[in-house]
Amino acid sequence: MKRNILFASSVVLLLASLFGCGGKQADDASFNYNIPAYIKPFAEPEYNKATQKGVALGRALFYDKNLSAAGTVSCASCHIQQKSFSDGLPQRQSELSGNKLMRNAPALINLGWMEGYFWDGGAPNLEFLNTGPLTSHDEMGQDLRQLVVLLQKDKQYQHMFMEAFGKDSIEFSDVSNALSQFSRSLISFGSAYDQWKSGGKELSEEAMKGYTLYKEHCSTCHTEGLFTDNSYHNNGLDSAFANDTLFGIEKGRYRITRRAEDMGKFKTPTLRNLSFTAPYMHDGRFANLQEVLQHYSGDLHQSATLDAALKGEDGSLGIDLSEADKMALTAFLEALTDYDFVENPAYSAPD
Ligand code: HEC
Ligand code: HEC
Repeated sequence: MKRNILFASSVVLLLASLFGCGGKQADDASFNYNIPAYIKPFAEPEYNKATQKGVALGRALFYDKNLSAAGTVSCASCHIQQKSFSDGLPQRQSELSGNKLMRNAPALINLGWMEGYFWDGGAPNLEFLNTGPLTSHDEMGQDLRQLVVLLQKDKQYQHMFMEAFGKDSIEFSDVSNALSQFSRSLISFGSAYDQWKSGGKELSEEAMKGYTLYKEHCSTCHTEGLFTDNSYHNNGLDSAFANDTLFGIEKGRYRITRRAEDMGKFKTPTLRNLSFTAPYMHDGRFANLQEVLQHYSGDLHQSATLDAALKGEDGSLGIDLSEADKMALTAFLEALTDYDFVENPAYSAPD
C-alpha cells in the first residue's frame, strides 16, 4: 500500500517535470479561454501563449492613450467595448491627421480563430498587426523606439512587463505580444443562440424560422459557430474597382494577392454581436440590418468576381427574401447578440 503511494507520487513528480507545471510556473498561470464545447479551440502561437499577467498588461496598454504620439488616442478610442470593440462610425476621421480612415473599424471578438486580419487579410497574424495602428499617422502616429523608452520610464509598466515576460528591459515585441494576448482574450459566446446550442433555453419561433433561412442562404460564407468562413468573397457591393487610392484599398483582397480572381473580395465578417456594430460592411455603407437585407435581396451589383452563392440559376442576382423572411432573419441575427460581453468587467478599462 505504502509503496503504491510512493510510486503514484513519483509518477506525478515525473509528469510535473515533463510538462513544466511544478513550482514557480504555477504563478504565471496560463490564461483560461472560455470556449464552449461545440467550438473547436484555436491554437495560440508557440511564441506568445497567453498568461493572466500578459493579458492584464495588454489590457492596460489597450486603454492607454499615452501609447499614441500626442497622448490623445488609445486602441479603445476606435475599439469601444460597448460596441463589441467597433466604433459605430462608417469611416472615422482621424483625430491626429484629420484624414478619413478608408475602412470601418471591425468588432474585435474571437480573434484567435481568424486566419488573416483586416478587411483584406493584409496582416497575417495579430502580433504583426499591432505596429499598424501604433505607427499609422491616421491612428496613433507613434515612433516604436520612442514608445519603448516611454514605457521603460514608467515604474508600473516596468513591474508589469517584468511579471508578464520576466525581463528587466522592455522590448517592442513584448508590447505587441501583450496587446495580442488581450485582443485574443476577447471571447464572445454568450448569446441566446449559444444558450440554445449548449442545451439551455429554446430560441423563439421567429428566430428559429430565421435560423432555417440563414442555413439556406447565408451559412456558406457566414459559417455556423464563428459565423465566418475565414475567407474572402465579393458579396456584390460594387460593380467597379478602379479606385487606386492607398494601393487600391477598395479592391479588397486583390490589394494583397494581386490575383484577378480576388478583385473586390473582402473578409467575411462574423454575424455575432451585430446589434452593437452598425454601420456595416468594410466601409460602413449600411446604417442598419434592413439596409443589409435589402442589399442581399435585390440591390446586388454584377461583376466578374461576384460570388456564385448570390446568383440564381436563371442568372438573377441576389437572394429572394419576403418581408416576413427579413423579419425572421433579423430575429435570428438578434439572437447572436452577447449582452454580457459588452458589460464584462474583465474587458473594460482597468482602474
Ligand atoms: C483611429 C482608429 C483606430 C485605432 C486607434 C486602432 N484601430 Fe484597430 N482598426 C481600425 C480600423 C479602421 C480597422 C480596419 C482596418 C482595415 O481593415 O484595413 C482596424 C482593425 C483592427 C484589427 C483587425 C480586426 C479584424 O477583424 O481583422 C485589430 C485586431 C485591431 N484593429 C486592433 C487594434 C489595436 C490593438 C489597437 C491599438 C494598438 C488599434 N486597433 C487601434 C481603427 C483603429
Ligand atoms: C458569398 C458569401 C456570402 C453570403 C452568401 C452572405 N454573405 Fe454576408 N458578407 C459576406 C462578406 C464577404 C461580407 C463583407 C463584405 C464587405 O464588407 O465588403 C459580408 C457582410 C455581411 C454583413 C455586415 C457585417 C459587418 O460587420 O459589417 C452582414 C450583416 C451580412 N453579411 C449578413 C448576411 C446575411 C444575413 C446573409 C444571408 C441572407 C449573408 N450575409 C450572405 C459574405 C457573404
